[in-house]
Amino acid sequence: MQRLTNRQIILGITGGIAAYKCAELTRLLKGAGADVRVVMTPAATEFITPLTMQALSGNPVHHQLLDPEAEAGMGHIELAKWADLILIAPASADFMARLESGQGNDLLTTLCLATDAPICLAPAMNQAMWRDIATQANADKLQQRGIKLFGPGTGEQACGDTGPGRMLEPAELAQLCAEQFSSGALSGKTVFITAGPTREPLDPVRYISNHSSGKMGYSLAQAAVDAGARVKLISGPVNLAAPERLQRVMVQTARDMLDASLDGIEQCDIFIASAAVADYRPTAVAEHKMKKGKEEVMELHLVKNPDIVATVAARPDKPFTVGFAAETQDVLAYARDKLQRKNLNLIVANDVSRSDIGFNSDENAVTVISADQDQPLPQTSKRQLANQLIELIASEYNRNSQ
Ligand code: C5P
Repeated sequence: MQRLTNRQIILGITGGIAAYKCAELTRLLKGAGADVRVVMTPAATEFITPLTMQALSGNPVHHQLLDPEAEAGMGHIELAKWADLILIAPASADFMARLESGQGNDLLTTLCLATDAPICLAPAMNQAMWRDIATQANADKLQQRGIKLFGPGTGEQACGDTGPGRMLEPAELAQLCAEQFSSGALSGKTVFITAGPTREPLDPVRYISNHSSGKMGYSLAQAAVDAGARVKLISGPVNLAAPERLQRVMVQTARDMLDASLDGIEQCDIFIASAAVADYRPTAVAEHKMKKGKEEVMELHLVKNPDIVATVAARPDKPFTVGFAAETQDVLAYARDKLQRKNLNLIVANDVSRSDIGFNSDENAVTVISADQDQPLPQTSKRQLANQLIELIASEYNRNSQ
């Protein structure tokens, strides 16, 4: 269960008799190295006290949506962002119905709406309630939305019935949580990742740049760290905090980014170029601020920047090299051309003509292209997509080095 070390888990408890097992579940998750924050629905507090859960988790328990004191500490949006995983155990039939219909009428449902962390449910209810057509339909729809169901198990129930609907045992749930995290697929590998835009100065106060937020590159860096890699994140100017447990090198221009990329490249196993590098820079940078003149039209002279990923991929000791292709038309054809031209092992193609994904958005959908296959990864949060991409890159890297 090493995969739970340093993971931030929200344990959501809803109203059901199996809530008493959450004490043991919290102890197991904590024992495996996870940081656990407990969120309870009002009904859950009838079955187990917040005080018990606070003592076991070592963190304040959250149980009210509109609690000014709690919001001043860690508000519901911060909590939603904090979580690496939300486990709801026990998940009652009522909770599943509310989650399915997108309600936000208590803290736990609101968190589920606001998070982009994976959500897992451990259903627990009477066998007839579980078999009910409405509950079954809700379970199906939740799974279609990517929400995982752990169980339920079958057996004797608190009410005296026997059948499906028992919550899985705490040890099984802790194990299933651990399995949700990356496999250590890049254990011991060194990964360089470029991210964000570059800034090409015109004079001391102006520059040419683009709208790249760096979110995709930063999510990839986090996912690579989670997969066990040593990561160097070479970042243009962005508004993002450095993920923990990696080396971040901040750069401004494409040439700075190239220098930082080549520094230590001999140790690099996998190079991922997700930066939106400016293709051109001004031929000269004015020493002083350029003044407005009489002319209506101003001409700028630009010179081509070095292609960072192509430079890396042209080396005799080339690492496994992954590029990105952000395109607005003929996405796959342009991406395939880039794969060949830049001598890449993989290219991640995305359609930036869509405003709901890509640049500056929190979501993305891509196709990963190699010399012999295309693999589409459907729309999801950049964080989840990054995990999927890192798993895929790791397996292609392993296939390549056999
Ligand atoms: O040629 P284009 O900019 O469309 O290629 C995109 C891919 O090349 C991305 O992986 C990007 O990070 C990389 N690139 C680079 N250096 C450049 C231009 C693009 O590394 N100067």
